Amino acid sequence: MKLKIIMLAVMCIGVMHLSAQQLPVYLDETKPIEQRIEDALSRMTLEEKVAMCHAQSKFSSAGVSRLGIPENWMTDGPHGIRAEVFWDEWNQAGWTNDSCIAFPALTCLAATWSTDMSLLYGKVIGEEARYRNKNVLLGPGVNIYRTPLNGRNFEYMGEDPFLTSKMVVPYIHGVQANGVAACVKHFALNNQEIDRHTVNVNVDDRTLYEIYLPAFKAAVQEGQAWAIMGAYNKYKGEWACHNQYLLNDILRGEWGFDGVVVSDWGGVNNTMQSIYNGLDMEFGTWTDGLTDGISNAYDNYYLSKSFLKLLKSGEVKEEVVDKKVRNILRLAFRSTMNTKRPWGSFGTQEHALAGRKIAEEGIVLLQNKNNVLPIDLAEVKKVAVIGENAIKVMTVGGGSSSLKAKYEVSPLEGIKNRIGSQAEVIYARGYAGEKSGAQDGLGTGQDISDNRSEAELIVEAVKVAKEADVVIFVGGLNKNDGQDCEGNDRSSLGLPYGQDKVIAELAKANKNLVVVNISGNAVAMPWVNEVPAIMQVWYLGTEAGNAIASILVGDANPSGKLPFTFPVKLEDNGAHKLGEYPGNGEETYNEGIFVGYRWTEKEKIKPLFAFGHGLSYTTFSYGKVVADKKEMTVSDKISFTVNIKNTGNREGSEIVQLYISDLKSSVVRPVKELKGFQKVSLKPGEEKAVTIIIDKAALSFFDADKHDWVAESGDFEALIGASSSDIKAKTGFSLR
Ligand code: GLC
Repeated sequence: MKLKIIMLAVMCIGVMHLSAQQLPVYLDETKPIEQRIEDALSRMTLEEKVAMCHAQSKFSSAGVSRLGIPENWMTDGPHGIRAEVFWDEWNQAGWTNDSCIAFPALTCLAATWSTDMSLLYGKVIGEEARYRNKNVLLGPGVNIYRTPLNGRNFEYMGEDPFLTSKMVVPYIHGVQANGVAACVKHFALNNQEIDRHTVNVNVDDRTLYEIYLPAFKAAVQEGQAWAIMGAYNKYKGEWACHNQYLLNDILRGEWGFDGVVVSDWGGVNNTMQSIYNGLDMEFGTWTDGLTDGISNAYDNYYLSKSFLKLLKSGEVKEEVVDKKVRNILRLAFRSTMNTKRPWGSFGTQEHALAGRKIAEEGIVLLQNKNNVLPIDLAEVKKVAVIGENAIKVMTVGGGSSSLKAKYEVSPLEGIKNRIGSQAEVIYARGYAGEKSGAQDGLGTGQDISDNRSEAELIVEAVKVAKEADVVIFVGGLNKNDGQDCEGNDRSSLGLPYGQDKVIAELAKANKNLVVVNISGNAVAMPWVNEVPAIMQVWYLGTEAGNAIASILVGDANPSGKLPFTFPVKLEDNGAHKLGEYPGNGEETYNEGIFVGYRWTEKEKIKPLFAFGHGLSYTTFSYGKVVADKKEMTVSDKISFTVNIKNTGNREGSEIVQLYISDLKSSVVRPVKELKGFQKVSLKPGEEKAVTIIIDKAALSFFDADKHDWVAESGDFEALIGASSSDIKAKTGFSLR
């Protein structure tokens, strides 16, 4: 027997050796990837190289079938795998096996402040992409939340560069572990939807490096992202999809990015810039990427026939296209040609429950006076659920992140699922928004049209509210144009469809009122003092209703914290007070680094709810913060330790936040900046020591003159907070 095993092993080694000898280098996975790239490149014709650099269909680009190099298949989006579309149509192709699990929007992921949740998110969405044989996921989006009107903030991770930088990295690792590239977008300065294709953003270097670049830098240098998507807007007069400064100088030159740069769809506008300014793959719809095209439109792309002609004439050297193709081949060897990558899975209950877990960890309890929440089902026998968002499908719409979900549990369904056997649940519409259209030929599957007048709807809602023990109003924004939707921004901070009036009437009708706000942006809350309980629940995807119900009744203890500031009014936001938003083709970010809490603290404005705010059904006490040294040098690290105790009667998680304040500096700096956080779970009465370690990077600002980060010696303060406005402890230290 032993002899047989030995002979078998010798044979296998022989075959492997033989096959390795027979395999061309580019197919030999035992060879270094760079060697395989050069070998593949040497075998390709000029036409094959150029064909790789531009789309061949809506979401794919050519491989080299002659060499066994597969096509590249891209898919939206950051919250789930988009339905299959026709070869050259935005409309979905009507497949019957591409209904995905819709995961929570990335604002929800950011609100978990949990890198574990981010890794889980990347893993499960990567598995869905892999199973659908897509090798590039067009996400995550990490553009900074500069204005609460931006239609796409729901796709991003908030206002703070440190939080976004920490949360984007595990997501990328989770996705790429499946042999699928994360394509981090939109690089860079795409902070609004109004004029997104044309606005030229002017921003000083310090603001660019301190606020708008960090998340992309972390994605590249810590996340090792395999792809980056250029933004539509311009910076320094060049479109971001082919931008010497952003792509060649910073992304490649300063950060050492070795992945592939993909244009946004229709984001390419200039032949020579698209050839020389850092772009590798041009995607879009038709010729100019957006308007109606002609047949064989893809031949008319900037990086197609005209590029080939320039190469053939010698006006552009072949090394220029080789540079692009090397990056595209590196993507292939990391993904489609990696024979060891897993197979993925799709539409599974495991993925649905992962989405629910992320949702439950991301829901933020903003206010809970008189402990209206959690709902005590021993006491409560009649629950009124009011509001259009309790029944409205939210996975369809919103632009490119729209999904054909396998299922979606609405808030009303989730509440009925959870408490229907213990309490009577009555629904009233409360208000009616405009009918949400289908998108990409995908309907919402529901007809929630309601022709009753505003007054009739309010009368019905108040009647239902008066009869109930507790009232749950589910409102907020939706994925319609002009709400949380790509391609446009909101025109005001307030809730649409007369919701404020409905809420005010409900508050008079029943003191046990809970407002559940579904949105990806801050909204004005003029009724904040009349409503005892307020929950910020994001677009939560497939398991939305079950996650919301779980928090409402206390099965799960809310632990989310806001990833962006809720201003009382729009003028309390820097982009609106100073920043020229939305600009007129030109827009200067005059507010500079003072975005979000950095602005409100500088201007001494009290926000409605602060960055990092979120309550729990239990309580926590904080001890003193102790530094392991009083003086540090630029080569040191310094640690801050604080004891956190659960002083309530149920298990809960707290997110301990570390802010750093530079007490004296040669430049104006924010009052304080987030430089560390840790989410800790505690049983009742349990106490844990939380330690956060920082180095000089946490003390530094970007010196534009030196074009480098500078940590000035002097005195600093470390502040431990349960939010940016709820500081529990602080201690001084100095940098020598
Ligand atoms: C869109 C979006 C981008 C998306 C792409 C493909 O215009 O800006 O985020 O991935 O086109 O749908």
